[in-house]
Amino acid sequence: MPSSSGHGRPGPEQVDACLRLLERAFCKTDIDIALVLGSGLGDVANIIDGDGVGFDALPGFPATGVSGHAGRLKIGTCGGSRVAVMSGRVHFYESGTADVMRFPLEVLRGLGAETLILTNAAGSLNREFPPGSLMMIDDHINLSGINPLTGIGDDRRFVTMTTAYDPQLRSMLGEAAANAGVSLGSGVYAWVPGPSFETPAEIRALGILGADAVGMSTVPEVILARYLGIRVAAVSIVTNLAAGLGDEEITHELTKEVAPIGAAALSDVLREFCHGFRTVR
Ligand code: HPA
Repeated sequence: MPSSSGHGRPGPEQVDACLRLLERAFCKTDIDIALVLGSGLGDVANIIDGDGVGFDALPGFPATGVSGHAGRLKIGTCGGSRVAVMSGRVHFYESGTADVMRFPLEVLRGLGAETLILTNAAGSLNREFPPGSLMMIDDHINLSGINPLTGIGDDRRFVTMTTAYDPQLRSMLGEAAANAGVSLGSGVYAWVPGPSFETPAEIRALGILGADAVGMSTVPEVILARYLGIRVAAVSIVTNLAAGLGDEEITHELTKEVAPIGAAALSDVLREFCHGFRTVR
């Protein structure tokens, strides 16, 4: 049974060391918004004017071994907001460690980010969200039995998840989408640990439970971010109809092929969001 509690993960000294390194590299790092880009969404980082560094140059950062994830942290500005973008993330399925994103999120929090926008590629269970479309996540389902806060020994682990997806950020994203002329409905995202895709029976079950989309990321990050006191919003790019709902074979290649199609619309929404952010915060 793989560890899901993340024993042996880097501690506060390593977070501080990473922050000092980033301060030296980027001079000014008081971040307003942190952004995590999912599979095939790397081009969204182009909305930021700034410089990047590979995760491998940041001691303590986990290495991403998934194709379609650049593994770079870029820091810069977009519309007057200071933004840090992780192009690529690390997933539970890469090591069986549920809190593998804790260190990067602690670093982003240390850079000043109190707002986190997560993005991902997902399969759709709802025909209102066809491949190529965007879905803002307004709630999630995690029935995996896996939680990134497992093993934490104090009462802060009992994190409230009632409004995990921040209502104010959701309405700001909705406005940003309207300004950008992009359709952005919202729905429930079900987390599956992967890496195998779902069976049609699993998708039927998730549909009965109320899921609109399904994917292998984001949910552990949302739980960790709420634990760290970071406000969260999240957007899925639908890359395929979920298993059993369409004719196309579901593959990672398909994810990498379709995600960039939605990335242009996502870039427009996030650019608007960053432009409006400082004034309404
Ligand atoms: N299932 C899980 N993860 C995914 C899918 C899917 O259908 N598409 C993209 N990521």
